[in-house]
Amino acid sequence: MDCLIDWPEPVVRVQSLSESGSATVPPRYIKPPADRPCFDSGAAREVNIPIVDLSAGESEAAAAVSAACRDWGFFQVVNHGVSRELMNGGREVWREFFHLPMAEKQIYANLPATYEGYGSRLGVEKNAIFDWGDYYFLHFRPLYLKSHDKWPLLPASLRETVEEYGKELRRLSERVMGLMSLGLGLESRRMREEFGGEEAAGVCMRVNYYPKCPQPNLTLGLSSHSDPGGITVLLPDSRVPGLQVMHGGAWVTVQPHADAFIVNVGDQVQVLSNAVYRSVEHRVVTNSEAERLSMAFFYNPRSDLPLKPMPELVSPTRPAMYQPMSFNEYRIYIRKRGPQGKSQLESLKSFTV
Ligand code: OGA
Ligand code: NI
Repeated sequence: MDCLIDWPEPVVRVQSLSESGSATVPPRYIKPPADRPCFDSGAAREVNIPIVDLSAGESEAAAAVSAACRDWGFFQVVNHGVSRELMNGGREVWREFFHLPMAEKQIYANLPATYEGYGSRLGVEKNAIFDWGDYYFLHFRPLYLKSHDKWPLLPASLRETVEEYGKELRRLSERVMGLMSLGLGLESRRMREEFGGEEAAGVCMRVNYYPKCPQPNLTLGLSSHSDPGGITVLLPDSRVPGLQVMHGGAWVTVQPHADAFIVNVGDQVQVLSNAVYRSVEHRVVTNSEAERLSMAFFYNPRSDLPLKPMPELVSPTRPAMYQPMSFNEYRIYIRKRGPQGKSQLESLKSFTV
């Protein structure tokens, strides 16, 4: 655990690099050629992740969610009941936060043991190649992990807005989990129960801030990864695209629908569903024209419960594909290494079907 006490190297804020006005990115941010984004594939623009209308009837919505979780691991939800004012208000307080003077933000500088606060890297591997982004990570639940002291005091309306946002997104996440359960032919509450029940579920958020980048061809805002937890409900930037999803062996740039949230399956739901639902690799590309801000809300299982494929989805022809592992164990394993595509979930596999 020693390596989780502090970062192995001094932390550099990507925002400071961006604002220095340099025409090149430092070598530490340059990805190997195979990982660099490709901006000229016109074909990819023809497809987009599915859109699910939550105001459709329950069975219709569940069928759409189920198909999306099997084919894409990603979908957008519209008519989700979260007000446009709260969505924009959330974006606004965080934009203001990232535009505060650096000294004001450094008060909340984070450490690798918990990641809470203002951060600029994921993983503690020395000499890793960095991503072109800063972030703010905080907990809503369990309540013993939630501490307003670790939330920014400025701008003045931030804590209240984030509190309200957390409540609404928790409700939305529970509803989406219900549809995912129905889509597996199970009762609506089934998957939430596997998570330890609504009161025990872990809820946290990472606000991603991707400053303008002078050389978008060489960098990534966030390296390819799958989300380790249950589900993620992402509020994308309303103006600037950047999220790409792996589909059919190619990167597809998500075109955010106005007022939609982007939902994706995390590794724990892939495990519970015995890989019927897929936690899919995604990444973020940068651009030189505009900064980008996104809010990733994570709904996770209670962290000390060993999770394994649900018995209803295990049969002689489809044996359990994963060994039981708690989210805590899984998360520590991941935090040491940083984003690694899907290799970490693959390593949990007990059989190959
Ligand atoms: C994440 C993530 C995508 C984005 O935070 O896990 O994938 O668009 N974010 O910022
Ligand atoms: Ni992600």
